[in-house]
Amino acid sequence: MIKIVFFIIAVFITGLTLKSQQNAARFFPDSNLVTTGIYYYPEHWSENQWERDISKIAAMGYEFVHLAEFAWFKMEPIEGKFNFAWLDKVVNLCVKYHLKVLLCTPSATTPTWMRIHYPETFIMDGHYIRGENGTRGLGSVVNQKYRSFVAKIVAEMAKRYGQNKNVIGWQLDNEPGAIPDYSPSSQQAFRIWLKKKYKTIDALNTAWGAAFWSQWFNSFDQVIIPNTNLVGWWGNNPHALLDFKRYSADAQAEFLDLQADILRNYISKHQYITTNYTAVSTGSDAVRTKKLDFATYTAYPNGGSDNIGDLGFRLGNSKIILFAADYYKSVGGVSGVMEIQPGPVNWGSYNPLLLPGTVRMWLYHSFAAGGKLACSYRFRQINYSAEQYHAGIMLPDGVTPSPGGEDYMQFMAEIKELRKQYSPGVKMPERVAARSTAILWNLENYWTIERQKQTGQWDTWNYPIKFLEIAKSFGAPVDIISETADLSKYNFVIVPAYEMVDAALVKKWNDYAANGGHLIITCRTATKDRRGHFWEAETAAPISGLIGARVKTTDMLSNYAKGDILSKSAHYNWNNWGDLLIADQNTEVLATYDNQFYKGNAAVVNHKVGKGTVTYIGVDTDDDKLEKDILREIYGGAGVIVENYPTGVFVYWRDGFYVAVNYSSDSYTMNIPPTAQILIGEKALKPAGVLVWKE
Ligand code: GAL
Repeated sequence: MIKIVFFIIAVFITGLTLKSQQNAARFFPDSNLVTTGIYYYPEHWSENQWERDISKIAAMGYEFVHLAEFAWFKMEPIEGKFNFAWLDKVVNLCVKYHLKVLLCTPSATTPTWMRIHYPETFIMDGHYIRGENGTRGLGSVVNQKYRSFVAKIVAEMAKRYGQNKNVIGWQLDNEPGAIPDYSPSSQQAFRIWLKKKYKTIDALNTAWGAAFWSQWFNSFDQVIIPNTNLVGWWGNNPHALLDFKRYSADAQAEFLDLQADILRNYISKHQYITTNYTAVSTGSDAVRTKKLDFATYTAYPNGGSDNIGDLGFRLGNSKIILFAADYYKSVGGVSGVMEIQPGPVNWGSYNPLLLPGTVRMWLYHSFAAGGKLACSYRFRQINYSAEQYHAGIMLPDGVTPSPGGEDYMQFMAEIKELRKQYSPGVKMPERVAARSTAILWNLENYWTIERQKQTGQWDTWNYPIKFLEIAKSFGAPVDIISETADLSKYNFVIVPAYEMVDAALVKKWNDYAANGGHLIITCRTATKDRRGHFWEAETAAPISGLIGARVKTTDMLSNYAKGDILSKSAHYNWNNWGDLLIADQNTEVLATYDNQFYKGNAAVVNHKVGKGTVTYIGVDTDDDKLEKDILREIYGGAGVIVENYPTGVFVYWRDGFYVAVNYSSDSYTMNIPPTAQILIGEKALKPAGVLVWKE
């Protein structure tokens, strides 16, 4: 009986989720491949230029216009008095020029009247200083007054445009960041969140280890948000900080879901709801939202850093779109880029010209990884304001396309040609599908590790991305997935530095391997419970049966020392992290340490579990060579043939097209079958080059 009740509840909950997340693929017909759009801010320009600009947007090849993002002051100039006449004009101009409209809720920038009359609607920083209006993202998402103003304007917009056939969807807010908020509203909301989670104050005291340094609380009223600014590095309680991160991410997600719920009361089922997370989002956790149809990302790969080779500073960071495109689709099954950098920005450490073709290459990268929409920030470079140095698709004269604008036009013209080559129902070639790989991701692990890195050489964000890069160098299709995903779809599942686990998760990993999957687990995995406590047992005790080894202890080296590792007859360097493993009898040792006082100790092991394998890589190296060779051995051992693309060259298959892009400073000649039909580009892939072909 109990089982049946659970089943009914589960079906009901699943039904609710499906209803709100309405199978996002339906918004994007496959034959369209990708739809392109551009941010336009009519409120920044004189009205007599609107038609000129909108007609130009259409003539350049764009298909939708992104409107209203930061225009709260214009839509509600006085509290409670709404004015959409100006927006109606622009929406109608879009209709006239056959452009669709993507509307944005304006919650990221609040109007002056709100600051004057309701200062409590802003967050407080870690010095308890209040934010003000005039920039983005400073509203306190837990403040009830702010929420009620947001609810009102979102409802007004939805009533006005929710049934407009030309409006294709809604973007909520802008780059939701889950910014730490120490305001009184947030202190109170945090206590409520904690009470819900822990029920009793003793449970919280235990979870936070509050006996340490006299942090003990007698009641929830005594709890305050842990504040690193006031107690210094040593005073930070990692468990309290972890909960503050979780709470902030939950509050952000709840705020987005609140907006989505309001929209759904009014909008047609043909309009979608999304938001635009930053590609590297260390605060907001996209998988916590329940009401979006799908998630998009913003991508600014070039902010003045070295990247790959001499030209890297013009080509951008190859990891940005690489990660975001594979990660954000995990929310609703599809994704796309909402803002792609159109040229030099104004916030990099320096802002060089891009190598000609770079914006096009980024667009192709996002497309190759499955992107359903490709939109850019912004149409016109603004002549004034904080972003006057930030490139647009048009130069500051408003009528001449920038180099990025030229790139975009080329991309859009080419996509229109590719659409003609699209054949429905094509299946991913078996050779590619056999490499299918998932990387398990949970932002909570980033939070705990980043807080306690233990060595300055540990690169918390980029560590999982290293494995994504390796899998991509093999030509694998990769999904970055969360714990709830079905692992059985993948031949290889990589679990990189997954610090916090529970028994159910370890069982899921075990079942996956037992059923024939190839699981690759790396150092720092399963060292803590969900509270962030160590086990009262050996490091990584919950997975020692699974990996067929015990993690005895861990070493790390000075910045300049190089550890030596022997695998087969090859030597590798390591420096950052080294688990010393004791392998069980039936476990194969794939690599051992070859210097230091523990020479001969196992560093990488492989263990057969049921029909599958589990490999544990206990070392983090700087050059990734060891990890790459070990993974090559595992894929090869599973009978899967892999590629060996150089760093910065990425190759994808989507909808019948192979797409290759090159972020490196060297040309690379793609080895494609002589019968392949080249549709765009040439085999010799130059830096910023693109090749599209069919086989
Ligand atoms: C993004 C933001 C945009 C714009 C852009 C400038 O992060 O969403 O509104 O400010 O940066 O690069």
